[in-house]
Amino acid sequence: MTSQAPSGPSIRQDALVLESVDPVGRPLPDFPVPPRLASHGPGRVIAMCNQKGGVGKTTTTINLGAALAEIGRRVLVVDFDPQGAASVGLGVSPHELDLTVYNLMMERNVDIRQVLRSTVVEGLDLLPANIDLSAAEVQLVGEVARESVLSRVLRPVVDEYDVILVDCQPSLGLLTVNALTAAHGVLIPLECEFFALRGVALLVETIEKVRDRLNPRLEIDGILATMYDSRTLHSREVISRVHEAFGDTLLQTVIGRTVKFPDASVAAEPITSYAPTHPGAAAYRQLARELVARGDAA
Ligand SMILES: Nc1ncnc2c1ncn2[C@@H]1O[C@H](COP(=O)(O)OP(=O)(O)OP(=O)(O)O)[C@@H](O)[C@H]1O
Ligand SMILES: [Mg+2]
Repeated sequence: MTSQAPSGPSIRQDALVLESVDPVGRPLPDFPVPPRLASHGPGRVIAMCNQKGGVGKTTTTINLGAALAEIGRRVLVVDFDPQGAASVGLGVSPHELDLTVYNLMMERNVDIRQVLRSTVVEGLDLLPANIDLSAAEVQLVGEVARESVLSRVLRPVVDEYDVILVDCQPSLGLLTVNALTAAHGVLIPLECEFFALRGVALLVETIEKVRDRLNPRLEIDGILATMYDSRTLHSREVISRVHEAFGDTLLQTVIGRTVKFPDASVAAEPITSYAPTHPGAAAYRQLARELVARGDAA
């Protein structure tokens, strides 16, 4: 056998090429770390929305929030799900709360500053929720301007934050419509599995209705592929279908499937502090930088 040039360098080159494209083949820039902000606010409100359950809304809210706080953004996470998963994930036990977002929505004499909590993450505050919020959907029906109650609740503190992330429940009911009415943008987490696209048309239709009737500024900031497993053909097929259907609305950052996310939830911490060097933490940091680069976050 004649000795060929060692294959090492070309393999390394391949690896470099692979690293510089996203899973659907678009060139992947190294999104820069944005400079610190000289001052804060007004906050851009982003609703984390998908009526399908278990797609990574809460995980994305917590970890994107923490990653944005790491780069100096003042972030408010609004738990807008009666399950209170975002509250639990940020170390707050929802059963012990006297005041939550529910009280702010239904009672006129509660000050949002009595309800806001700081979290283990510097620069990240939480507006908590618990099961009380499940009554709001029914109680709001008879209210005047029932779709803009969350907007009113947030108004006194909007100027103090750079980004406000609203973690929606898995439904397209009145609470979610409130989140969409308060929002500037919507992020749609989509799990990379077979039926992922089912229901997205209905979600987009709902977003368009809210834009037409209640909130003309509302835009879809992006679709985020979650629980991606590059080893499976299936994950790759789903993501290219999403790209075919939605083009560059599909964000370049993709969140891989890893048990570190449920582990971090159990520890009631974002992955960025629970496992700071894990690829899952890197992915959410990249997402934060990508959103800033796209103009979707301050
Ligand atoms: N990238 C991931 N890899 C592995 N597990 C994940 C990932 N993202 C989220 N999970 C886990 O999947 C489950 C559902 O995630 P999460 O609670 O974020 O979804 P959700 O859309 O908020 O759900 P719900 O609709 O019930 O509010 C959780 O146990 C979470 O820890
Ligand atoms: Mg959730």
